[in-house]
Amino acid sequence: MKVVNITFKFQDGQPEQTHVAAQGESVLDVALNNDIQLQHNCGGVCGCSTCHVYVLRGESDLPEISDKEEDFIDRAVNPRINSRLGCQCVVQGSSEDLVILIPTQEFLGH
Ligand code: FES
Repeated sequence: MKVVNITFKFQDGQPEQTHVAAQGESVLDVALNNDIQLQHNCGGVCGCSTCHVYVLRGESDLPEISDKEEDFIDRAVNPRINSRLGCQCVVQGSSEDLVILIPTQEFLGH
């Protein structure tokens, strides 16, 4: 099985953490499996913007962003060029590791 490392950094100042992600797992899955708080109001079906994250490195290991994902990112707080929805960031298992910045988990939009 192909795996990559995901390093999570936090806007609220928590120390960073690195975890292994298997091909097919989303950034949201890996966060929740490791007790990292990342909101997911719609349950991970690209129906909200609360799982908003910033991809600092490794975007080439993620699927292309969809129009629907882009629409929800527009509703997130402080969207940037490297914004993604954590539940849509499904690891493809290339060799590139990911670095993800988790926004402070409050006032994240709808
Ligand atoms: S959890 Fe709702 S879009 Fe990701």
